Amino acid sequence: MTQEPQPRLEAHDITVRFGGLVALDSVSIDVPAGAIVGLLGPNGAGKSTLFAVLSGLLRPTAGTVRMDGEDFTSATPQARARRGLARTFQHPELFASLTVREHVVLGHRMRNGRRRIWTDLVNGRSFRRPSSTETDQVDDLIARFGLGAIQHQPVLGLPLGSSRLVEVARALATEPRVLLMDEPSSGLDSRETLDFCETLRTVVDEHGVSLLLVEHDVPLVLRMADRVHVLDFGVKIAEGTAAEVRENALVRAAYLGEEMPATVGEK
Ligand SMILES: Nc1ncnc2c1ncn2[C@@H]1O[C@H](COP(=O)(O)OP(=O)(O)OP(=O)(O)O)[C@@H](O)[C@H]1O
Ligand SMILES: [Mg+2]
Repeated sequence: MTQEPQPRLEAHDITVRFGGLVALDSVSIDVPAGAIVGLLGPNGAGKSTLFAVLSGLLRPTAGTVRMDGEDFTSATPQARARRGLARTFQHPELFASLTVREHVVLGHRMRNGRRRIWTDLVNGRSFRRPSSTETDQVDDLIARFGLGAIQHQPVLGLPLGSSRLVEVARALATEPRVLLMDEPSSGLDSRETLDFCETLRTVVDEHGVSLLLVEHDVPLVLRMADRVHVLDFGVKIAEGTAAEVRENALVRAAYLGEEMPATVGEK
């Protein structure tokens, strides 16, 4: 048997056209098991478009998406979720009146295929009594993300940084095998970002979840990611380790005038 890890999620030669605009031009990317993969690129590079293709919200003009080798190109977001693909949103999508803890419980019950939770919610009925496993796992996620003090508060009115942590904790409660994150650090201050990165790294290491981080925060991606892909105008201009990407002339040129030269230039 080969020891080469099979990519869990892979996109091959993805092209997306919006009318005359080529938003992605034959882009390939893979997310191996247990890896943190970063996707960088200046505004309009095609990051969100690729994210939408991977999560099933957008059908590519050409190319294929596979999960564990199985063709997922036409699979709905729901079908992908059932196979262990989760995502977070650039703007957290939470239920204003539910508490922090209830969001994490929701994620946990979604994993167990409890579809009734949605009708319970719509009907305003209270939550089923939790099992002890559920309580332990929910407690663990709440503690990991430092949400203990606010766990019984409704998410309405929480600062963006906390909402983002709730969203990530809820996504992880579904026990995804691959988690796609769109701008997870936006809204976090620098201290929160550091804590957040450490927590993510721990979760990846302990649970073997694979992460794809789409980020504007270049230093964060270069610090966190095992492998980095860089898009510019719909074309992949670089792929490699953080160190390789940092030294790449095309990447530096693409980021000229943005954060790249100031934050990752040699000292
Ligand atoms: N639904 C759409 N219809 C037409 N053009 C679109 C659509 N979505 C994206 N585009 C265009 O495709 C290109 C890539 O956009 P995309 O949002 O993927 O970039 P991005 O890398 O996510 O940028 P940002 O960093 O600003 O979020 C841009 O030129 C954008 O204007
Ligand atoms: Mg975007």
